[in-house]
Amino acid sequence: YKRITTKSLIEMKSNGEKISMLTAYDFTMAKIVDTAGVDVILVGDSASNVMAGHETTLPITLDQMIYHASSVVRAVERALVVVDLPFGSYQSDPKEALRSAIRIMKESGGHAVKLEGGKEIKESIKKILNAGIPVMGHLGLTPQSIYKFGTYSVRAKEDQEAEKLIEDAKLLEKVGCFAVVLEKIPADLAKKVADSISIPVIGIGAGGGVDGQVLVIHDMLGMNNEFSPRFLRRYLNLYEEMTKAIGQYAADVKSSDFPNSSEQY
Ligand code: KIV
Ligand code: NA
Repeated sequence: YKRITTKSLIEMKSNGEKISMLTAYDFTMAKIVDTAGVDVILVGDSASNVMAGHETTLPITLDQMIYHASSVVRAVERALVVVDLPFGSYQSDPKEALRSAIRIMKESGGHAVKLEGGKEIKESIKKILNAGIPVMGHLGLTPQSIYKFGTYSVRAKEDQEAEKLIEDAKLLEKVGCFAVVLEKIPADLAKKVADSISIPVIGIGAGGGVDGQVLVIHDMLGMNNEFSPRFLRRYLNLYEEMTKAIGQYAADVKSSDFPNSSEQY
C-alpha cells in the first residue's frame, strides 16, 4: 500500500475523489478498517461514548486518547491516523495545546491531531502547526461544547452562526489546517464551505456536497440500536447479529452442546 498523507487528501479534493473516513479505537477494529481501504482513521473522542459509556465526550482524558491511538497506530499500514485532542487538553492556552499535541504524536505515533473550534483557538492551532504537526479542524456541532449548545440538534441554521462558520472555515484554511470536519449542519451551507476553500471538507450529517464523509464505526455497523439520527446509514445490524450469536453461545454452554468432541484436546 501507498500510505495516505495529508498531501494525498488535498490531491483527492482537487481530483474530485471523495475521501472516506471512519473512527476506530482499538487494534483489531483498526486493522479491519485499514484493510477495507478507508483513507482516514479517526481516533475520535467519541471513544468516551462508545468505548467508555460516558454520556458526553468531555470526560475522556489525554492519557486515554493516547492509549486508544497507540492501539490503532499499531494496526494501520495505509490510512492516515488522526487523533482528537480531548476536552481540556487545549482550550486553556496555546502552550498547553502544543504540549498535548506533542504528547499524542510522541506517545501514540498518530499522524495528525483534530481540535474543535475556529477563531477562539486560532493561536493554539498555529502553535501546533509551527511544531510540524498537521491539524484537522472541526466546526458545526462540536460535541465538546454540548453544554453550551444544550442540544445535539442541527447547527448553523441561522444566518449569524452560518456566517461565523464560513469565516472559521476560511480561517482554518488560511492558518494551514489540512482538512476540516463539518458536523450536523445544513447540506447547502456545507457545500458552500467546501466550494469556497481548497482543503478537504469531511462531513458527518452535512450532506453530499462536501469532499468526504466520516461516521462513528459503532454507529455504521449498527452496534448501537438506540442511536439513529437521520444522517446515519447502517451497513449491518451488529447489535442483533452479536446478541444472537452470544445468546447461542450461552445456550450451547448451558446445554453442554459446546464444546463437542472435536473442540477439545
Ligand atoms: O469523535 C468523533 O467520532 C468525531 C467524529 C464524529 C467527527 O469527532
Ligand atoms: Na470528536
